[in-house]
Amino acid sequence: MKTSVVLLAAGLGTRMKSSLPKVLHPIAGKPMIWHILEAVKTIANEKPVVVIGHGAEQVSQFLEGKAEMIRQEPLLGTAHAVIQAESHVKGKTDLVLVCYADMPLLRAETFQHLMDVQQKNKGPMTILTVISHDPRGFGRILRKQDKSVQAIVEETAASSEQLSIKELNVGCYCFNSEWLWGALHRIQKNAEKGEYYLTDIVGLAVADNLPVQAVTLEDSQEAIGINSRVHLAEVEAAMRSRINHAHMVNGVTLVDPASTYVDTGVMIGEDTTILPNTFLQGEVRIGKNCVIGPNTLIKDSIIEAECSILASVLEGARVEEHVHIGPFARLRKGAHLMAGVHMGNFGEVKESTLGPGVKMGHFSYVGDAKIGAETNIGAGTITCNFDGERKHETTIGENAFIGSDTMLVAPLKIGDRARTGAGAVVTKNVPPDTLVVGMPARAIKKLIGDTGIRTESTK
Ligand code: UD1
Ligand code: CA
Repeated sequence: MKTSVVLLAAGLGTRMKSSLPKVLHPIAGKPMIWHILEAVKTIANEKPVVVIGHGAEQVSQFLEGKAEMIRQEPLLGTAHAVIQAESHVKGKTDLVLVCYADMPLLRAETFQHLMDVQQKNKGPMTILTVISHDPRGFGRILRKQDKSVQAIVEETAASSEQLSIKELNVGCYCFNSEWLWGALHRIQKNAEKGEYYLTDIVGLAVADNLPVQAVTLEDSQEAIGINSRVHLAEVEAAMRSRINHAHMVNGVTLVDPASTYVDTGVMIGEDTTILPNTFLQGEVRIGKNCVIGPNTLIKDSIIEAECSILASVLEGARVEEHVHIGPFARLRKGAHLMAGVHMGNFGEVKESTLGPGVKMGHFSYVGDAKIGAETNIGAGTITCNFDGERKHETTIGENAFIGSDTMLVAPLKIGDRARTGAGAVVTKNVPPDTLVVGMPARAIKKLIGDTGIRTESTK
């Protein structure tokens, strides 16, 4: 059977108290609505239809290319919202799955199960329910003596006896498509709220003697919907533990999962250990046998195997295998550390490549630079890459030795095996095998190889 998916996301989300539309608030690094779109991916035969209204401009910007968007205006309730999708969906598929877009923990398996039950149902719809002691304003499921579903009653309309019912309406339904559209148009406006309630459709089916099936969630956590920032934090924590659990199952050691914050989509290799208070955000890939953290933030970066990164911040960086970073290092956009690099405390690297085996042990700034293999960057070295107007590049050859506290005034080229004396301010290119000292630095001798043996005086 073919299935269409309709997600409702037009509501105001008043209780979020935010200028950002509710469904765009991030959960594990992705907008709330991304998660449900991901979960329905495998079950939808057509592009999902999302009903938008409040904050439509921002929401549609995010949804562009990911879903069909339909504008609901004015917002007259959940049944009215589904009706807006009619012209897009009617006649295309056998089943229509309708779900509210503020429940990012619902799993693909749950949607599949709901559809499987509806396929076998002689009646027109199957609803998803949850047993919970925390009713949170959810509609209550009324059942007849024979336990079949009778109706959904909204909390505001429920009697005190009905309020004690523990079976709740999650807000996810699978309909027979042919029946759905006719029934929607029969729903009466709720006199009190002036809205058309989708939940009233259950009573309509029952009145027509058509059986309504129910699927009850095994994991009640999946039903956590977000109405406020308190729920947002709850869902974030639940999503975090779900993500962390998957990494541990895949062979990653998380010393303290509760303080390990890994965004959805992050990849981590086997036998890597993540220490507490570590944040892996955005597009991050980490190889095997690494040790990351504690107190580390890595965003949009690739880390290859056998690396260690301690108490550092990396963003937009690429780190090859066997690299050791930190504590207290900062890698910014375009930082590329090749195999075997050692970058110690208080270093900053931006838009630069550190060749294989480069050592940069202590408080240096390297920006817009290329550094050849095995070169040593002494403590306090700075690439002076900005002249107040433009950025300039620094190129350093292989096996060079940059002395402590060297200022490299870019644009600048330092040759292979060249050396600079401590405190040198280098303003002119340095040929290979040359030692320069002073301020501004002047060449004082020609060197052979990297041994520093004097061959001729340059003065
Ligand atoms: C709804 C259900 C309730 C259920 C609960 C689960 C109804 C009448 N009630 O209540 O039984 O237990 O969800 O969370 O359906 N929306 C629109 N257009 C509208 C109104 C709402 O698109 O005109 C969207 C909202 O963006 C939201 C969803 O529909 O994603 C649910 O609306 P909301 O106002 O949150 O309904 P609840 O009062 O929570
Ligand atoms: Ca809600």
